[in-house]
Amino acid sequence: MATELPTTDIRISADTIRRRKGGTPIVCLTAYTYPIARLLDDHVDLLLVGDSVAMVLHGHKTTLGASLEMMIAHGQAVMRGSAKACVVVDMPAGSYEESAAQAVASARRIVDETGCQAVKLEGGVDMAHQIAAIVAAGIPVMGHIGLLPQSVEKDGGYRIKGRTDENVAALFGDAQAVESAGAFSVVIEGTVETVAADITRRIAIPTIGIGASGDCDGQILVIDDMVGLTVDRVAKFVKEYADLRSVISRAAEHYAAEVRSRTFPGPDHVFSATKRGDDA
Ligand code: KIV
Repeated sequence: MATELPTTDIRISADTIRRRKGGTPIVCLTAYTYPIARLLDDHVDLLLVGDSVAMVLHGHKTTLGASLEMMIAHGQAVMRGSAKACVVVDMPAGSYEESAAQAVASARRIVDETGCQAVKLEGGVDMAHQIAAIVAAGIPVMGHIGLLPQSVEKDGGYRIKGRTDENVAALFGDAQAVESAGAFSVVIEGTVETVAADITRRIAIPTIGIGASGDCDGQILVIDDMVGLTVDRVAKFVKEYADLRSVISRAAEHYAAEVRSRTFPGPDHVFSATKRGDDA
């Protein structure tokens, strides 16, 4: 069990997010670690402990590398580092698809062991049963439709959704199924702009866009993409608000030069035998 969880009375609840449909856009980012959660908490409404952590922090090729244990460990870190944001933890592939009972057991474990406000899972019509069961167990659920990272191997790659009439109809069906199953919000990923905007107008729960539409009720990006830490190619929908790759690379270059030239450590970074009050 997680220890030292912060008090939850000032946290934004899943229900508060639901009630923000059509209002000021909902600001969401992924977070996987304690320091990043601390830095983001003042600025966002919602932190998603996405299963993208498997790729971003653990170097897996797809999100299929995430496990329940991995998600719980990162969920605990993000809860320790935040006090205000609504924290949503992703359900990893293999933890919910089999049955409603499996989905409820996994969601219950995530919430009990992290103290997070909600879970997220991928799928629409095909996962409505699981969403309804988790909601009936008292756990808020965020849906995820459109491009589904857990299905990219099955789909033959990262394919944008909503480009055929058949696919548009399927997306509307998914959005409605997620809403009817009781989800408090839904992520729409990698979907044609006009389709995502139309879904946003037609359903009563907030839509959170990523590679979707500026008309969605909120937006989400992967934190490492947003701050320019991602070393591989980033998707077209990513806007880099900082270039931390260069900052880290320059810092490492500077440090290496100072170590090699014995400039570091200097007098300020070592302890003398006589001076008091300079404990680390
Ligand atoms: O895992 C993740 O980071 C996500 C976002 C892309 C929405 O699901």
